[in-house]
Amino acid sequence: MKTKAFIPAISLILAMGFSTSFAQDPQHMNMAPASTAAIEKAICVLYATQGNSVSGTVTFTKVTGGMKVVADVSGLTPGKHGFHIHEFGDCSSPDGTSAGGHFNPSGSPHGAPMDMSRHAGDMGNIEADASGKAHMEYLDPHMSFNGPSSILGRSVIVHAKEDDMKTQPSGNAGPRIACGVIGLSKGQ
Ligand code: CU
Ligand code: ZN
Repeated sequence: MKTKAFIPAISLILAMGFSTSFAQDPQHMNMAPASTAAIEKAICVLYATQGNSVSGTVTFTKVTGGMKVVADVSGLTPGKHGFHIHEFGDCSSPDGTSAGGHFNPSGSPHGAPMDMSRHAGDMGNIEADASGKAHMEYLDPHMSFNGPSSILGRSVIVHAKEDDMKTQPSGNAGPRIACGVIGLSKGQ
């Protein structure tokens, strides 16, 4: 009985030792599929925060010169709504505040999407038509899927009001009416 228990214990220790040396070996680390596969596309599915009925999707596709952003949102009041990437991929609080502030890896002031100096998460506004639907497409040069400016695992927030693109630190865009986490997408 004693030896039967002893052998699995030894093999467990050996296996643990092996995996540790594997993890520390840079060659083997590079072989891990998650770190080598080029990430081309991400998607965020937006869900309404408490008391709202906004829904939609935002896709991010790596293209020459940056990221192609395509947003389709419905259930909005007509007009402009602040639209940003926020720091945390955490939509757990009913009001969306768990997502934190604007994603700002460069420590820049809040600005407009076309500003040179801005938060990486500053996507400006989406504008809803009379039926409450908004569609937006643009090329963003400040976003990435790698390194400190990676948008993966962060969140997209839609606001009740227009982002004035001036007021610090968040454009005075009011409450958060939708939140979604940016995750990997299968592809086209
Ligand atoms: Cu925001
Ligand atoms: Zn901002």
